[in-house]
Amino acid sequence: MSGRRLFRHARILTLAGSAEARRGPAMRELAVIEDGAMVTEGGRIAWVGADADLPTGLVIDDVHELEGRVIMPAFVDSHTHLVWGGDRRDEMQMRLEGADYEAIFAAGGGILSSVARTRALDEDALFEQSAARLARMRRCGTTAFEIKSGYGLDLETELRQLRVARRLGEMQGVRVRTTCLTAHAVPEEARADETARAAFVDRILDEVLPAVAAEQLADFCDVFCDRGAFTVEETRRVLARAAELGIPPRLHANEFGHTGGAKLAAEVGARSADHLLHLDAEERAALREAGVIATLLPGTSLVLAKPFADGRAMVDDGLAVAVATDCNPGSCPMENLGLVLALACHGCRLLPAEAICAVTHNAAVSLDLADERGRLEPGLAADFLELDTDDERDLVYHAGSPFLRRVWAAGSLVPR
Ligand code: NIG
Ligand code: FE
Repeated sequence: MSGRRLFRHARILTLAGSAEARRGPAMRELAVIEDGAMVTEGGRIAWVGADADLPTGLVIDDVHELEGRVIMPAFVDSHTHLVWGGDRRDEMQMRLEGADYEAIFAAGGGILSSVARTRALDEDALFEQSAARLARMRRCGTTAFEIKSGYGLDLETELRQLRVARRLGEMQGVRVRTTCLTAHAVPEEARADETARAAFVDRILDEVLPAVAAEQLADFCDVFCDRGAFTVEETRRVLARAAELGIPPRLHANEFGHTGGAKLAAEVGARSADHLLHLDAEERAALREAGVIATLLPGTSLVLAKPFADGRAMVDDGLAVAVATDCNPGSCPMENLGLVLALACHGCRLLPAEAICAVTHNAAVSLDLADERGRLEPGLAADFLELDTDDERDLVYHAGSPFLRRVWAAGSLVPR
């Protein structure tokens, strides 16, 4: 048994082409094969092309007739905070009754309440809660995940979160990149005065990052650089230390204002600058020139009732854009990247083809995964979606409807 599977008569969105991030109008080029066929073998794609060009004499174990339905790369979620303890449903209720997200945070709730709940869990409990969310995300079509720490804020819990993220990545058909986000919030114990705050940042530099690097627990380093979180100066220090340890940067930037985060992302050549609700033409140009991928998180805008990032202006100005869930216990517990893709169109004004590139290839590039996923080309992972339609725009048109017929990861069906 060769384990060779053939998918026939499909509209295949291959996104084939350069492994570089697609910028501006190139985001709309999905390299579609009408009446296409794809062969998978041993968890990888073995062949893609026109059905009429299928090589003869192939021994196939399993043939799937798609009858014109769409096949596209599985989703890559390039910004999640997937590993946390407990929930913040009550905080959602408070916000719906009029409370403000930033005010809750400043008063010691928000991120800090998830910190308390995460610190309280041992590694197995944290794994179990996180794996349940990951399973739902896979059913929604995501097979590759970036996962941040940042609900520990102390050495022990940060390491525990990252170990759990690594363990999730050992599961069959799950690809994980990890990000150390210890500079996510100033914890309760460091809020007394400026000295305590400075000592917290010093500890990130002197203890947390070196320990994370020693155990090779983080592929990236992130900082919440914004009002109420970390200043540009503090962020620069954290990222510089991470760079010394060989950990490349990505950033939470410009969510609450023109706080300097986007410009810093350009200055340090971050893989990605995320949120970007407030971004002017000069900041867009800085990101474009530095080759920083702009990551939109429109689920967060919806949940917090904030403005949507201007994705249209970003693409029109030639930026490479990615779209992600931001899946976290507070500002956006959404797990369905297909729904967030639709929000990126209706809210951030991306075109459907641009949004599809943003949740597949461009997201993979931002995680340094473009050599293995995000496109359907021979040699890449057999991670793909079968849609229950012959027009992928239905993902946007019927936003949130169950158009995922089947999800494949490493050549195997993801249980629904
Ligand atoms: O990306 N903006 C900062 N951090 C998260 C929110 C985390 C939380 O509320 O728990 C975000 O939105
Ligand atoms: Fe986030």
